[in-house]
Amino acid sequence: MRKVMLSPSILDSDFSEIKSTIKMLDKAKAEFIHFDVMDGNFVPAITFGPKIMKPLRALTKIVFDTHLMILNPDKYADLFIDAGADIVTVHMEAVKDMKAMIKQVKDRGKKIGVSIKPDTPSKTLHKYMENLDLVLVMSVEPGFGGQKFMEPMLDKVRDFRSIIDSNKLNCIIEIDGGINRENAHLACSAGVDAIVAGNAIFGSKNPAQAIKELRASFWRDIDPRLMPKKQ
Ligand code: DX5
Ligand code: ZN
Repeated sequence: MRKVMLSPSILDSDFSEIKSTIKMLDKAKAEFIHFDVMDGNFVPAITFGPKIMKPLRALTKIVFDTHLMILNPDKYADLFIDAGADIVTVHMEAVKDMKAMIKQVKDRGKKIGVSIKPDTPSKTLHKYMENLDLVLVMSVEPGFGGQKFMEPMLDKVRDFRSIIDSNKLNCIIEIDGGINRENAHLACSAGVDAIVAGNAIFGSKNPAQAIKELRASFWRDIDPRLMPKKQ
C-alpha cells in the first residue's frame, strides 16, 4: 500500500503558540510542515517570510515544505533555503524561466516542487516532471485556508500518477486545499503521496487527535483488493 505522508499547514494555527505547535507536530510524526508563503500580489493575502521560518528551523528536524505563492520566486527561493526550507515549491503561473528555477533550487541541494492552480491544466507540468521532486495539485484557489475541496482536481492527480509510474520518475504528488477526514481517502486512491491539511487539523480543538483521525481516514472505504500495489 502506498505510504501517504502528512504535511500540516501552519497557516491557520495559533502563531502565539507556534513553539508548542511544532513540538506537537514532532510528536505526531508529521512527515512535513507546510509553510504557506503569500505576497499579497500572486494571491491576495500576505503571510510570512524567511525571518519567521528561521527560528523554527532549530526546533525540529521535520521537512519544511515551503509553498511559495509569490511572484518572482527566483528572487526569494535562496532566502527561504537559508532560513531552513527543504522543499521549495513555486507556482507554474509565477515562473518565467522554469528550467533556471529548477536549477537554482537543485544547485542548493534542496528539493524543487511546482504547483498548479485549479485553472492550470496538468499537461503544463509534463515536460518538467523528470526534473521535479514534487508536483503540488491545488484543490482550492490559492490564497487562504478553510476553503471547499475541488474534487475535479483529482483528475490531475491521476494524470500525474500514471506519468510518474509509467516513467518511473522520482517525483511525489502532493495535494493542497480543503482536505479533511471526509475526502482524504479520495485523494489517496487517486494516487497522492502527500496531503497538506490546515483547517482539518488546526480548526480542531485537539489538533493532535485530528491528525490521528485524518491519517486513519486515508484508506477507509477502499476494498483491500483494490489497494495500490506495494511500490
Ligand atoms: C491555500 C494554501 C493551503 C491551505 C490549506 O492557499 O496553499 O496550504 O492553507 O489549508 P486547508 O487545508 O484549510 O485548505
Ligand atoms: Zn499550501
